Amino acid sequence: MPDNQTSEVDFDFHGSALDNIFETYSDLRGQCPVGRSEKHGGFWYMMNSEDIFAAEQDPSTFSVAPSMLLPAFGTDVPLIPIDIDPPEHTDYRRILLPLFTPKMVAKLDEGMHKTARELAADVASRDVVDASALFARPMPTIVFSRLAGFPEKDWPKFDQWVDDIIYERTVNPDRAWKAGQEVMEYFDNLLKERDQVEHTDDLIAELTAAEIKGRKLTHEELLSYCFLLFLAGLDTTAWAIRSSLWYLAQHPEEQERLRNDPDLIPLASEEFLRTLSPVQAMARTCLKDVEVSGQQLKQGDRVVLVFGAGNRDPQVYDRPDDIVIDRENNRHLAFGGGIHRCLGSNLGRQELIIALEEFLAAVPAFSLANPDEQWHGVGSLTLKIGK
Ligand code: HEM
Repeated sequence: MPDNQTSEVDFDFHGSALDNIFETYSDLRGQCPVGRSEKHGGFWYMMNSEDIFAAEQDPSTFSVAPSMLLPAFGTDVPLIPIDIDPPEHTDYRRILLPLFTPKMVAKLDEGMHKTARELAADVASRDVVDASALFARPMPTIVFSRLAGFPEKDWPKFDQWVDDIIYERTVNPDRAWKAGQEVMEYFDNLLKERDQVEHTDDLIAELTAAEIKGRKLTHEELLSYCFLLFLAGLDTTAWAIRSSLWYLAQHPEEQERLRNDPDLIPLASEEFLRTLSPVQAMARTCLKDVEVSGQQLKQGDRVVLVFGAGNRDPQVYDRPDDIVIDRENNRHLAFGGGIHRCLGSNLGRQELIIALEEFLAAVPAFSLANPDEQWHGVGSLTLKIGK
């Protein structure tokens, strides 16, 4: 048993702290799996898979208000459904569920293959290429924006907004705030413009027609859904694709194995999601005093569930820090694990699988051209194509 301490450490899970985060997890887990960090106004962190799953499944103790993000996104309204507790959460989530079933996602398969194939052909035609800018980022933008009904003319604006809100907010909160306001304004206008025309088969249309307890959603509710889906649907999947390629670029033998046996790609994708999780951590607030792994948390305390650490918990996984591309029984926390479990998991998973299938089929052996580029984020990934 580790000797639990209450002294604060400067543990963070953003920006350059991610460079060596897996060593940090290992150290902190050994010293104190539930502990205090002084960052972002002070928070408790949880590193063990079991503690995290238990907190995920106990919304009456661990609330998602005021925001699941620490620090918060650039908005002053809670995002639906991610920042909403039960009982309201149940209805807000229910109307999204039918839109993301495996059957609905299967309908997108052909389009996803076509998109990935076109992008991969472009990558394959070059000698040195930024595979993030030309592949990992555009794939989810195209797939999700088409599904959602975000007009194609606007797509070029999306990456900068996502970068400012998700990645800049810890170092440049004003910029994140401004980008948040711009995105809100953008969706406000989009929803108003759409009121004037007929739409039948996209996600915004489904939400506009949806009802909660016999009433339609308000304009503000629709706006909040759009904002959240925009942020949740683009960056996470881009990170998953980019980090998987980052790993494969350094393991030519694994590239070859997956090229020769593409049936392994779903298992490999799951392992990339476990070990290189796009969402390393999410926050909660204690609604009451509670003890977790020997530490006393108080009502009002902020708590961070460190999914990335839980996903490498030696109590759960053999060789937890190794990427074993045919790992079976891989129950991980990359999509969370409670009532807020990722609604887009079927879509995100399928996008990653198809992206890897098409990339490996089209692109010959590739390697990292810039070894300084890190495993995390959605920044450039410069690949050298061909041996
Ligand atoms: C590989 C890609 C993705 C990863 C790793 C991921 C991860 C996550 C995580 C960790 C959560 C919070 C879970 C919790 O705290 O219990 C979440 C929530 C959510 N995700 Fe994803 N996500 C991905 C893709 C997507 C996509 C493509 C969409 C849809 C467009 C999406 C929509 C959502 C929504 C709506 C929620 C909130 C669910 C709720 O509050 O009930 N995600 N996601």
